[in-house]
Amino acid sequence: MTSMIAFLGCGEMNEAIMAGLLEAGTAPEDVVATVRRAERVPGLASRYPGVRFISSEEEPEGNRSACEGAAVVVLGVKPGDTVGLARAIGPSLRPDAVVVSVAAALPLAQLEAALPQGQPVIRSMPNTPLKLGRGVVSLSPGSTCSPAQLQQARAVFEGSGTVVEVPEEQIALVSAISGSGPAYAYYLAEAMAAAGEELGLDRELSELLAQETVAGAGLMLGEPGATATALRNAMTGPETITSRAIAVFDGRDVPGIIAEGARATVKRTAEITALLGETALD
Ligand SMILES: NC(=O)c1ccc[n+]([C@@H]2O[C@H](COP(=O)([O-])OP(=O)(O)OC[C@H]3O[C@@H](n4cnc5c(N)ncnc54)[C@H](OP(=O)(O)O)[C@@H]3O)[C@@H](O)[C@H]2O)c1
Repeated sequence: MTSMIAFLGCGEMNEAIMAGLLEAGTAPEDVVATVRRAERVPGLASRYPGVRFISSEEEPEGNRSACEGAAVVVLGVKPGDTVGLARAIGPSLRPDAVVVSVAAALPLAQLEAALPQGQPVIRSMPNTPLKLGRGVVSLSPGSTCSPAQLQQARAVFEGSGTVVEVPEEQIALVSAISGSGPAYAYYLAEAMAAAGEELGLDRELSELLAQETVAGAGLMLGEPGATATALRNAMTGPETITSRAIAVFDGRDVPGIIAEGARATVKRTAEITALLGETALD
């Protein structure tokens, strides 16, 4: 039995997972990845030497051949394309191959129904910092996934981030925090850069200060034992300069606004799940 890992779709998310896996030491010869457009292959092949890349434009059966013999198959196409892809690859899957879906909002039940009966399936919610080895991914195994198969899927992510297991009902909540979360951090950096400019700094300098500060604070948070509260408290004692900013944020209930934003993503996930359910009935 091989330990081949197939990434079907190699866009923003699957490329990040694959890059983290390779960075963590998996042999590129054990990895195969597919894309739709042929024009993407040369760039990917030069960034990841040794990985086999197939475009479905050039090889219409490419997704199926990528799955042949693979122990883990990661579905990284858009949520609306995932069920169709699962149906197409079914006949080529090893019966014990674990199919991991990264598709936001697509329920396990729909995925299981699209695959051969009994095929082990895991629904995941990764985030893009996996690319740099600092991602977070949640895994929710389906009913036919054995502990050993779950471990195989964990191994795909463990070198590139923190792996947590949650029941499927909590995936939208995980998505609200860690799936969408990188965008919240970038938004903060954008707002800080705009504030610097408003105070009178040059735009370029202000962007540099904001970007390096958010990136550096992220590294501080990643130190063993660090917590956001302890790090912030250390800077915001009474009468400190920084405490004045936090008082303004508290006065405008910034934590409440962030919670409202997170709730809005949960609602959007439910909307997409409903739409995907309607498509599945067609
Ligand atoms: N981006 C995130 O932060 C994030 C976070 C959590 C979950 N997700 C999930 O990740 C999945 C992918 O999102 P994304 O942002 O990575 O999208 P994306 O950048 O558009 O990537 C989609 C990939 O699928 C490929 N593709 C489409 N049809 C294909 C086919 N028939 N055969 C082979 N490859 C095909 C595309 O090929 P081309 O490269 O040729 O276009 C592309 O590489 C979604 O289900 C999303 O819900 C994303």
